[in-house]
Amino acid sequence: MRHYSFKDITDTFRLFDINKSIQDGLVIAKNQYNTIATIDLQLGNIPLVFCNPSQINQVILNLLINSTHAIKSQKKSSPGKITVKTWVTDDYVFCSIRDDGPGIPDAIRDKIFSPFFTTKMPGEGTGLGLSISYDIIANKHRGSIFVDSPFEGGTMFTISLPLKSQKTKPSVFREDPVV
Ligand SMILES: Nc1ncnc2c1ncn2[C@@H]1O[C@H](COP(=O)(O)OP(=O)(O)OP(=O)(O)O)[C@@H](O)[C@H]1O
Ligand SMILES: [Mg+2]
Repeated sequence: MRHYSFKDITDTFRLFDINKSIQDGLVIAKNQYNTIATIDLQLGNIPLVFCNPSQINQVILNLLINSTHAIKSQKKSSPGKITVKTWVTDDYVFCSIRDDGPGIPDAIRDKIFSPFFTTKMPGEGTGLGLSISYDIIANKHRGSIFVDSPFEGGTMFTISLPLKSQKTKPSVFREDPVV
């Protein structure tokens, strides 16, 4: 999966369709989630965003795969559900990826964006997916990424990407993750 994400590493910032990133990610990850989850796609009418497409593809893929693994870990007899939504406000394009998996326990919520934090068995996960995603969204794109535990259960990650001041050089300033 990461191979796909990194293949266009020389790519730089350009105007990009986030809905296309989601659709491509769903094709790439299909053989992973196919028997695990159904997809509820609610793509809004959103403008192009000035961003690094290969990095954004990587974030979307990380979140889709995390949701798939979370649902799979429940070993349910029927498929789970992953809901992917996009929408726009005056200043930001948003994308949320929500699953009806086991959720994230309060005790580890403030650790999940840390490098090498994983609850997976050795060899199954590096624990880098969310820390790389945080770096891409918050530091390289001046957006935000945060996690919610919806009342009904499961997990929802939401990313925002700014529409204004997009052509300024991306900042290397790092903030603490908002979780
Ligand atoms: N959708 C989710 N539902 C439940 N737990 C999640 C979800 N997404 C992430 N997590 C938790 O956060 C941890 C860190 O996720 P992260 O993507 O950084 O690493 P990983 O998936 O374990 O390994 P990899 O480096 O292969 O992505 C996971 O091990 C898991 O415990
Ligand atoms: Mg992961």
